[in-house]
Amino acid sequence: MTLLENRPADLTDPLVVHEPGPADGPWWRDAVIYQVYPRSFADGNGDGIGDLPGITARLDHLAALGVDAVWLSPFYRSPQADAGYDVADYRDVDPLFGTLEDFDALLSRAHELGLRVVVDLVPNHTSDDHVWFQEALRTPPGSPERARYLFRDGRGEHGELPPNNWQSIFGGDAWTRLTPEKHGVDDGQWYLHLFDTRQPDLDWTNPEVRAEFEDVLRFWLDRGVDGFRVDVAHGMVKAEGLPDWDGHVAMIDGAEGEGAADGEPTGVGNQGPMFDQDGVHEIYRTWRAVLDEYDGDRMLVAEAWVEPLSRLARYVRPDEMHQAFNFAFLATGWDAPALRKVVAASYAVNDSVGAPTTWVLSNHDVVRHASRLGLTDPSSRPNGIAAEDEQPDEELGLRRARAATLLLLGLPGSAYLYQGEELGLPEHTALPAEVREDPAFFRTNGVERGRDGCRVPLPWQADAPGFGYSPTGDTWLPQPASWAAYAADVQDGVPGSTLELYRAALRLRRSERLGTGGAAWEPAYADAPEVIAVRNGSVLVVANLGSVPVALPEGAEVLLASGLPGDAEVGTELPGDTTAWLRVR
Ligand code: NOJ
Ligand code: CA
Repeated sequence: MTLLENRPADLTDPLVVHEPGPADGPWWRDAVIYQVYPRSFADGNGDGIGDLPGITARLDHLAALGVDAVWLSPFYRSPQADAGYDVADYRDVDPLFGTLEDFDALLSRAHELGLRVVVDLVPNHTSDDHVWFQEALRTPPGSPERARYLFRDGRGEHGELPPNNWQSIFGGDAWTRLTPEKHGVDDGQWYLHLFDTRQPDLDWTNPEVRAEFEDVLRFWLDRGVDGFRVDVAHGMVKAEGLPDWDGHVAMIDGAEGEGAADGEPTGVGNQGPMFDQDGVHEIYRTWRAVLDEYDGDRMLVAEAWVEPLSRLARYVRPDEMHQAFNFAFLATGWDAPALRKVVAASYAVNDSVGAPTTWVLSNHDVVRHASRLGLTDPSSRPNGIAAEDEQPDEELGLRRARAATLLLLGLPGSAYLYQGEELGLPEHTALPAEVREDPAFFRTNGVERGRDGCRVPLPWQADAPGFGYSPTGDTWLPQPASWAAYAADVQDGVPGSTLELYRAALRLRRSERLGTGGAAWEPAYADAPEVIAVRNGSVLVVANLGSVPVALPEGAEVLLASGLPGDAEVGTELPGDTTAWLRVR
């Protein structure tokens, strides 16, 4: 790939991949949004599970880090069959996490600190504990109560076979049959669940479902939230007739390549008749209209694993959502030519609809990037790592993770950070099977290790029980002893620590307005295949993904570099696996 491929056709300078945007646009266009995973951020009451008061007490950390907003993964009433992505009541807080008053207190403290708050909305499925599902079990086939979900008769002589051949993303069949023993029902119908059997899919062709979720949006908008992260935003509408499909369904890898068009990077994407159907867009147009009734630039961000990127851009057309997670970047690993292609294509497709792109490297569903990038194949994306699997090279992973983050934060657009990455946290790669909770682990009989390793409670203090996560030292998953070195308190104020690197990067990103800046390839590196060099205003971001040092432009002032503490200072050369921000005129 040359530098000139994949650039938008209407830009006159061949090196420019993105023109600067207005500096005074809505906050979300260039926001750095920090994902809090409530059960693992901070435990206020000592039961070993993180909670809303725990988060509120630690919001200062996020304000000092310099992020613009917090996204909270679900804290709603839930039996926790999928860590809260199985919602039983969309308008209440689960007692595990606190109360609605605790939520209000969190929101008002965040706003006091200048932090926006985005909450998670899980509209594809409910919990089987949700009152609607319970009502559906009490009413016969064909009833309006059943029509809120996707109940169907089975195939086979006695309806003993599932209605179609779809597989669950967590493994196993995507259908569960009602039985007298489990459900108290003997009509033998089946219900669809793209995820766990405890997460029945809603039928989004039903106007009652649509009305309910508009009301849920209003409930949280009225409380003052600044936006919603929309779970499985590409899955709510299924192809008519629910046709059989023989493709491969997976949570984070998708069937790469199948969706590719015109040489666009494929990234990752779920394929098949259950994903990315045209009908989803009408829902988002309605939601956008609801948000537009409110002041304060409320926003929607799509969690949509679709490919190619031009399909993803359809979710952020002017009358739909504001942002969509750009998972193609996350999925590309440590491969400079492939990443350049993703960067150029991301700007091209998003600019064509006037939306900012987003950048993200880690979240609660993927192996932390400090560990992924330390694997022999740094572009591989295992679903969890166990003790018997290849163990990442911790130092190399951290070195690359810091370089990857500095590249990401130097690019215009919005950026998402996952709790703990500002500490350089690696994945827990040796959790014993007995403590694992992810349904994907159980539904695949452990073939997929699952996502628990990136969900381990954060280390706040090196010398406190549970690393200061909980007043009692209890933690719902065990923390590795090696995490003492990553605790926030031992990094605070220490030059070169990952925490200070993130703080410095976020400060500079703000003062240099990098988030609303432009992006142009730096011609000096046209012949350096391992280098990604992007000019953003008067800052030149140079990432060397190779192992051989490369020369830096003469006289350039190094503003920030990602090397590990103890590395020699960056002078005229940039070492391998390192990113630097330079002042250029
Ligand atoms: C995506 C969420 O991020 C993941 O954690 C969850 O398991 C599935 N959607 C199902 O809600
Ligand atoms: Ca707690």
